[in-house]
Formats: sequence, C-alpha cells, structure tokens
Amino acid sequence: MPLILGLETSCDETAAATVEDGRVVCSNVVSTQHDLHERFGGVVPEIASRAHLERLLPVVEAAVEDAGLTLDQLDAIAVGNRPGLVGSLIVGASAAKALAWSLGKPLIGVDHVLAHLYAPRLVEGDDRSAATPQAAVAYPALGLVVSGGHTSLYRIDSPTGVELLGKTIDDAVGEAYDKAAVMLKAGYPGGPKLDALAQHGDPASHKLPRPLLGPGSLDFSFSGLKTALLYAVRGTPVGRGSDARFERDADDLNDQQRADLAAAFQHAVIDTLSTKIKRAHKRLSEAGAVPRSLIVGGGVSANSLLRARLIELSASLGLELHIPAMSLCVDNAAMIAGLAHERFVAGAFDDLSLPVVATTAV
Ligand code: KG4
Ligand code: ZN
Repeated sequence: MPLILGLETSCDETAAATVEDGRVVCSNVVSTQHDLHERFGGVVPEIASRAHLERLLPVVEAAVEDAGLTLDQLDAIAVGNRPGLVGSLIVGASAAKALAWSLGKPLIGVDHVLAHLYAPRLVEGDDRSAATPQAAVAYPALGLVVSGGHTSLYRIDSPTGVELLGKTIDDAVGEAYDKAAVMLKAGYPGGPKLDALAQHGDPASHKLPRPLLGPGSLDFSFSGLKTALLYAVRGTPVGRGSDARFERDADDLNDQQRADLAAAFQHAVIDTLSTKIKRAHKRLSEAGAVPRSLIVGGGVSANSLLRARLIELSASLGLELHIPAMSLCVDNAAMIAGLAHERFVAGAFDDLSLPVVATTAV
C-alpha cells in the first residue's frame, strides 16, 4: 500500500497531505492565505510565495504527524509543479526535491488541473471500505474542471488519459464568481460568499445572458456575463474607460436586491455549464464514445447550485457522477498525492530537474 506525501503551493493555499494507495487520505493539512490577500481583493503573487516559504515546512510536519507517520515511511514525494503562480510553485517544488533527495525517495510532479479531476476518488477518515466503490470510474468519462484559474471540459479515458474538448476564452468561472462578489460587495473569498448570498435571492429577478459562443461550441466565456452583472448592479455608465461614471453601486442596493442579483448571476453561470456538459455528451456520443461518467473538480464544484444541478443532469444523461467531498473541492494536496499514485505504480518518476510551469499540460 504505497504512502505518498503530496505538496501543493500553486496559488494561495499552502498544503500537504498523505494518501495511501491513491485513495485513502491519511492527513490533509491546508493553510489558507485568505487573510493575507483579503484587503487587496485578490491574490498578490509576491505575498503568496513568501507565505508559502514561511508555512510549508510546518504544514508538511503537521501532515506527517497527523497521519501518525515518520518521513522514512513514505514511498514517494509528490508536488503540483504546474499550472500556477511560478514564484509559488517554486517553493513547493524546491521543498519536494529537497525531501525526495534527502530521504532517497522518488519525486513525482503532478498537473494541478488533472489532480482536481482525481479528487472525487479520495475518501477521508477511517472508513476505508468506502474507498473501493468510489474509486471505480466507468470510462469513457466527461470531465469538468471549474476552478479559479480554469474552466475546461475533457474526454477522460483513464486518470492520466485526458483530452481537452473546450475551455474558457477569457475568465475562469471561479474568477468570474470572485469579480461578481466584488461588484456585489459580498465579501472575500468571493465564490462561497456569493453562493451564500444567492440562497435568499430570486433568480428570475434579472435577465442575464447565458454565454454559449455559437452552436456546438464547447468553449466558455464569462466576461460578457460579468459586464452584464456590472451594469445590472451599477446601472449603465455614462462616458467610457476611466471617465465612465455609474449611477449607483452595491451600497445603494438593499440586501434583497443584492441577493436577487447574486441568484440571477449564479443561475446564468450554472445554466451555461449545464448546456456545455450536454453538448459535450452529445459530441462524444456521436463519435461513438458514449460517456458513462461525469467527473467534476475544482473550487467551484463546492457550489451548492452546481452540485444540485449536476445530480439532476447526470441522472437524466445516465452518467455516474463523481464529485469531490466538500473539503476536497478547493486546492489541497491530497489530490496531488492521489494522482501521483497512478504515476508511482507505473514507475514514472521525475528527477531533480523537474521544472515549474505556469500553464497546464492539458
Ligand atoms: O480550485 P481552487 O481552489 O483554486 C484554483 O485552482 O483556482 O478554486 C478556487 C475558486 C475561487 O475562485 C473560489 O471563489 C471558487 O473556487 N469557489 C466557489 C465556491 N467555493 C469556492 N465558487 C462558487 N461557489 C462556491 N461555493
Ligand atoms: Zn485548483
């Protein structure tokens, strides 16, 4: 039963976790930097990398200790080495290399986006029997990654056999959520705050666009929807560019009005994601690869409406739904250690020249 330590420092979470046999999460430590970035309204890369540097070793120690292990019991050291903020990735990759070299253990670099798609296979806690059925995924599968940096649809034939079908041409869905939350003054981090605000709103109160990019397109675009929300919140601006003046802002709205706008935005986003999943299902079916599962990952997979909609959609399309536990939707290192298991059993290791890369491989 290989035991793998995973490290994750791609953005604003400093994380380490241990995973046994690619399925059972023995420990999962995440130190979030939200408090450091909140006053800037978004992640400041230099602050993020410095904080990773300060926090990573205590986080690793906690992950090993929580699992009741010692470093020499580990079988490999895994790290998310792409995509992400380069200065942040370097901290995790350097620590992983140092650990692997000093302990004489294999090093495995993992693509963070593919790791999000592995998260539904993991189980936390002591119920190891629960890991077996959840780990069995029927292929071919459709994959959807909805995170702060990515919104992509995939055809998946194995945990590492992933083909891109479509992606965002502008903002990622999580980024759109975060910007929408700023417009509505919903708080930070934006996605979960806007999700909570939307619970009390009426989605039919405003007509916002469902950006579909033409018949059959599997790409996404959220910047027009973001602008439509901006105008709905603040009114149509007078003037252009930096001279633009709005008639109001979110402070001029009451709580119900802000909740209505949040609900209208949330429904527009989730309707768009649903349509794209149906299109991808049709595309693969017509190509003779009828999808049997839908695998979802990334921070936005914690969204309440998306989770409810995916249950309905999978049932109507005859798909097995694989969605992470709430604690494994946002960035974590368990998904890194989990996906690394696939490479471990294949003996596909990296050496100390492992680079960090800002973009995903898929
Ligand atoms: O996967 P993740 O932790 O980081 C990246 O790889 O980017 O995703 C973070 C994103 C953020 O944009 C955050 O606002 C969004 O996931 N998010 C949500 C929710 N929880 C997190 N968006 C909508 N609804 C949520 N409940
Ligand atoms: Zn992520």
